[in-house]
Parts: sequence; structure tokens; C-alpha cells
Amino acid sequence: MTRIRAATAEAIADAAELLRQGGLVALPTETVYGLGADARQGPAVARIYEAKGRPSFNPLIVHCAGLERAQRYAVFSSPATRLAEQIWPGALTLVLPLRRTSGLSSLVTAGLPSVALRVPAHPVARALLSEFDGPIAAPSANPSGRISPTTARHVETGLGPAVDLILDGGACPVGVESTILDMSTDTPRLLRAGGLPVEEITECLGRMPVLGAEDPKGKITAPGQLSSHYAPRAELRLNATEFRQDETGLGFGPAPGAQLNLAPDGDLRKAAANLFAMLHELDATGAQRIAVSPIPETGLGLAINDRLRRAAAPR
Ligand code: TXA
Ligand code: MG
Repeated sequence: MTRIRAATAEAIADAAELLRQGGLVALPTETVYGLGADARQGPAVARIYEAKGRPSFNPLIVHCAGLERAQRYAVFSSPATRLAEQIWPGALTLVLPLRRTSGLSSLVTAGLPSVALRVPAHPVARALLSEFDGPIAAPSANPSGRISPTTARHVETGLGPAVDLILDGGACPVGVESTILDMSTDTPRLLRAGGLPVEEITECLGRMPVLGAEDPKGKITAPGQLSSHYAPRAELRLNATEFRQDETGLGFGPAPGAQLNLAPDGDLRKAAANLFAMLHELDATGAQRIAVSPIPETGLGLAINDRLRRAAAPR
């Protein structure tokens, strides 16, 4: 059974140690409980997707101790800085251009050139961030498709043994997820309405954000319906049991002739952790055709295959 522990200083120190070791810690924030992992460790981030049973990779929110830390990971425009200064810590997530030198796992951003950042206000989340002294990737701590947890008990019921430790900080005071604002372009866009009233954003920016994301074809999609995904330029062939002469091989398991291998030992966590970084790397070589070894349709393999199928679909 997963341990629920009252969020004492000792429990928080243990939680920080678990994060360092690549473990999963559920933590209270002012909005909802998050399922946290070290945002720099790919296999730890892969465990988040595995625990949630998510059949696809959605980018995750990176929780930071403060604005100064957040600036290591993303580029803040002056309006974004103003918002952060006025509203953080709080229920606002900012989507911003990812820094090349961020050191974050590419699984956190699902390969996108932007990253979602938030400085939470909950004292337990703040204490853990300060003790851990690093970025914590954390989606809501619920199984995929279920409602977000606002108590430690909800987390245990939903995710149980998949979590190494649940820090109990009582019921979340806000109770709905953070408001997500895309500030990665000159046009502020509200991607998800949430715990921070949009009026506060409007007041700070002096303008109302546009509602919804802009999809690659320039159409506006409804908040929460965002399907922006990294797509490689190269053509992809899946379930390749061998690589042809004009193909660049991306292996999984034993795969002679592969240029890169997601996980020579067949470990799906490693494969998930490597997926976006390796696709980017092969794409950057100018490869025209990438052929990918078969990946089993179990556990994280479902999300990996979902991602690969989208990338292989005609555009
Ligand atoms: O209140 C919250 O935000 C909670 C607590 C734990 O902080 N977290 C949360 O995370 O609700 P999650 O993973 O359930 O929702 C994150 C949302 C997803 O809808 C995802 O698509 C969006 O943030 N997101 C993350 N990175 C993004 C990016 N680079 N561009 C656009 N959307 C992004
Ligand atoms: Mg969620």
C-alpha cells in the first residue's frame, strides 16, 4: 500500500530524497494534488505517464520554487514577467518558449519548443520545492480520464501503489486546476480556465487574452482541446523489423543497423524517456525516412505507439 504521510519536515525531506532517486511523490498544491517527479530525469517522468495510465503523452506542468528558478527553463517576455511577479505564487500556469539549456526531459514538454511553468502557493509544495531544490513535473494525481484529486485519500484510491509517497497536506483550498495562459507568442491565449480568475490576468496585462489555442493551421481551438504536438519533418515507418537502405533506423530492443536505439534492453520507461529527444536528433540529421522498430502495445508502449502513429500520419 502507498504510504500517506502527514507533511512534516521529516516527511518532506524523505519526499525530496525519493524525487532525487527518480521516485514519484504526490504533493498537495493549492489547486489539486499533483503527481510529482524530477523534471530532469526522463525515466522518472515516464513513470508519471505509466502511473496515470495515459494512452498518450500530454506535456506536463513544471513546478518551480520561484520566478528566478523558472527563468532557467523558459524565456520570459516583459508581460510574462509582470504576470509572474504579480500572481506567483498562485494558480496560474504560463506556457513560454523553452530554453535550449533548460536541462528538462523532453518527455515533460512532449517534444514541444514551449514549456508550462507554475510556482505553487501551497506551503507543502513550496517546502518540497525548496528541500528538493529542483524542478518538479506534476500533472494532476488522478488516473487518466478521472477527476482531479483534492485530498491525499483521493490520490491513494486512484493511483495506489504506483506512487512512492503521498504527502498529506489536507484538502486543496482552490480545488480546481490552475488557469493556463500561453505567453509564448505576442498574443496571450487562455488555454484552460482554472483557479485564477481570468479578470486578474486581463487587469495585469491591460488586455483580454484570446480564448483557446491556435492550432498549426491557424484555427482557434477551444480551451482544453489543445492538440499541439511535435511532429518530425521526416517520414516515419512503424513496426520496421529491418531497416532499408534509404531509411534511418530508430531501434527498440535488439535492432542491428539502427542509428539510435530507444532502449536496447527493451525497457519501456527508457524508451519513453528517449522518444522525443531521439526523434529530434534524427530529424536534425536531415533524415528523409525514419523507420522504427516494433514497440509492444503494453504499459507505456501504448503512449509511445500513439505518439509514433500521430507522427507517421499523413499531414
Ligand atoms: O493546478 C494544476 O495545474 C495541477 C497542479 C498539480 O499543478 N496540474 C495539472 O496538470 O492540472 P495537468 O497535466 O493535469 O494539466 C496540464 C495541462 C495539460 O492540459 C497540457 O496540455 C497543458 O497543461 N500544457 C502543458 N505544457 C504545455 C505546452 N507546452 N503548451 C500547451 N499546453 C501545455
Ligand atoms: Mg489533469
